[in-house]
Amino acid sequence: MNFDLEIDRREVPALKFHKMVLGEGGENLFAAGVADMDFLAPPVVLQAMQKRLQHGIFGYETLPDGLIPALVDWQEKRHRWLLDPAHILRAPNVLNILAIAASLFTQTGDGIIVQPPVFFDFYDIITENHRSIVENPLILQDGRYEMDFDGLERLAADPRNRMLFLCNPHNPVGRVWTRDELQRLHDICARHDVLVVSDEIHADLTFGDHRYTPFASLGEQAAHNSITCLSPAKSFNIAACCSAFTVVADAERRRAFQVENSRLTVNKNNAYASVAMEAAYRDGGKWLDAVRVYIGDNLALVRRRLAGLEGVTLIEPEGTFLLWLDFRELNLEPDELTAFLRQKAGWAVTRGPAFGTQGTGFARLNIACPRARLAKALDQLALALRS
Ligand SMILES: Cc1ncc(COP(=O)(O)O)c(C=O)c1O
Repeated sequence: MNFDLEIDRREVPALKFHKMVLGEGGENLFAAGVADMDFLAPPVVLQAMQKRLQHGIFGYETLPDGLIPALVDWQEKRHRWLLDPAHILRAPNVLNILAIAASLFTQTGDGIIVQPPVFFDFYDIITENHRSIVENPLILQDGRYEMDFDGLERLAADPRNRMLFLCNPHNPVGRVWTRDELQRLHDICARHDVLVVSDEIHADLTFGDHRYTPFASLGEQAAHNSITCLSPAKSFNIAACCSAFTVVADAERRRAFQVENSRLTVNKNNAYASVAMEAAYRDGGKWLDAVRVYIGDNLALVRRRLAGLEGVTLIEPEGTFLLWLDFRELNLEPDELTAFLRQKAGWAVTRGPAFGTQGTGFARLNIACPRARLAKALDQLALALRS
């Protein structure tokens, strides 16, 4: 496992390095936007896929017998979550789960609560499904983001607001919500009959002592008042050959999901995804531990380099490989900040306002890349800020 290895991702149509993301003339920028890693997938995953390729036949398949047990085992061993296999449904990807949950369990015009700054696709899913975005912004206090529980109570009490999209852990601010915080959120949502859809795609990527708490593991009531989205895409860097899992404890809602999956014919299996996911959950633990250490060391590097710099502040993350950088001191308009980062520092990162207006003055940096590349990019930023 050599995470320092530089591999040219332009050999494949990698989104992070594509013109679509980097823009015209952006091919030499430090590409640190799209949320995947520039590391090889775990060797156990590659071996399992190679074996599957050698078999050579790719006709229709069911799920391999070992996949759901591997997922259940993973959740129990890593996160002490006793997941009932009967509650797990397959899904093509996490965003599809959010979209189906919105369309099934809310009506046109209903409000879906989000807590910005938050993953931009939440917004698109809500508007594309003709629901209303209802913002309960996180509160930034002493460099740390907190949930606004009073605001949430007010919004949840409005009968038009039927659902909440939770990002647990939270992209882009890197919070790994504590059990207490999740319990408070659950109490409010349960009291007002607001269904929680918990996107837990970043669950395995936490720093130090921060522990991810599966929302549905809070207890029976939380399990029944939630839909959980799980996926090994981020943890093992297999987003392009991966699917996802919906956890629905409530039998009626689960049945509704099954019927909708069938109606939309999103219940087919991809052989590579099945094999990759099973190998990852069954045998990928050591790789994951190693990549977390590497990303943690990348974080330490960023922390050291930014400490002496004026104009940028690191929001200390507790999880994910995404850093939320505060450039508000520079007093630049969003387009000016993007231009400054691109032209002066050579950085192609994700613009803060993509995560809601609360992201104005911020940018999201992906640090899941070889360290030498990150170090060079930090040198460029330092030069840009000092000039
Ligand atoms: C919070 C969050 N949810 C979902 C996704 C995308 O998941 P999927 O590719 O399974 O739709 C991402 C990817 O960046 C993400 O950060």
